[in-house]
Amino acid sequence: MPGVAEEIRVEEMSGHDPEVAAMLVDLTLEEQEHYSHPRETREEVESRLRVEPTFTGENHLLIARDVLGHAIGVCWVVLFDPGTGLEGEIAELYVRPEVRGGGVARRLVSEAIALLRGRNASFASVWTRDGNRAALAAYLAAGFAPTEQAVLTWLPLPRR
Ligand SMILES: CC(C)(COP(=O)(O)OP(=O)(O)OC[C@H]1O[C@@H](n2cnc3c(N)ncnc32)[C@H](O)[C@@H]1OP(=O)(O)O)[C@@H](O)C(=O)NCCC(=O)NCCS
Repeated sequence: MPGVAEEIRVEEMSGHDPEVAAMLVDLTLEEQEHYSHPRETREEVESRLRVEPTFTGENHLLIARDVLGHAIGVCWVVLFDPGTGLEGEIAELYVRPEVRGGGVARRLVSEAIALLRGRNASFASVWTRDGNRAALAAYLAAGFAPTEQAVLTWLPLPRR
C-alpha cells in the first residue's frame, strides 16, 4: 500500500502480543510452501513458536585430545532457541597444524552433528571462506550442504 510507511510507528514489543504471534505463524506457513522441508500444520507451528523478548543459548566446546591429554583440536558449537525451535552453529573449528590431515576435524564435526541430532536441532549453519578446502571437506562429509536459500550478511562498515 503506497505511503503506508509514513503513517506508522515502530516500537519494540514488551510483552506477549497475540497479533504479533499470529503474524509469525502466518509467515511460517506461507514460507514453508517454497521449500521441500516437511510441512507443519498451523497447530504445530503455534505450539513451537514462543514469541518472547529474550532467550538463552548454550556453548558446547568439543575438544580433541591426544594420548597424553593435550588439546589438539576444538570445535565450538552454539545452540540457541530464539523461540522458533533449537538451532545450532559451528562457530569455530581449529586443529593444531602438526596433526592436520589426520581426520581430527572430521571427527570433531561428526561429534558436533551427533550433538545436534541428539538435541533434535531443526537447523544448523557454518561459515567458512571459499577455498578453505579442508574445512569444506570436513563440513560436507558431516552432512552440511550449500544452502538453497539466499544468505546475506551485514557488517558494521561505513555506508552499510
Ligand atoms: C580446517 C581444519 C580444521 C581441518 O582440520 P584437519 O584435522 O586437518 O582435517 P581432516 O584431517 O579431518 O580432513 C578433513 C577433510 O579435509 C581434507 N583435507 C585435509 N587437508 C586438506 C588440504 N590441505 N587441502 C584439501 N583438503 C584437505 C581431508 O582429506 C578430509 O577430506 P575427506 O573427509 O573428504 O577425506 C584445519 O586445517 C585448520 O584448523 N585450519 C585453520 C583453521 C580453519 O580454517 N578453520 C575452519 C574455519 S571455518
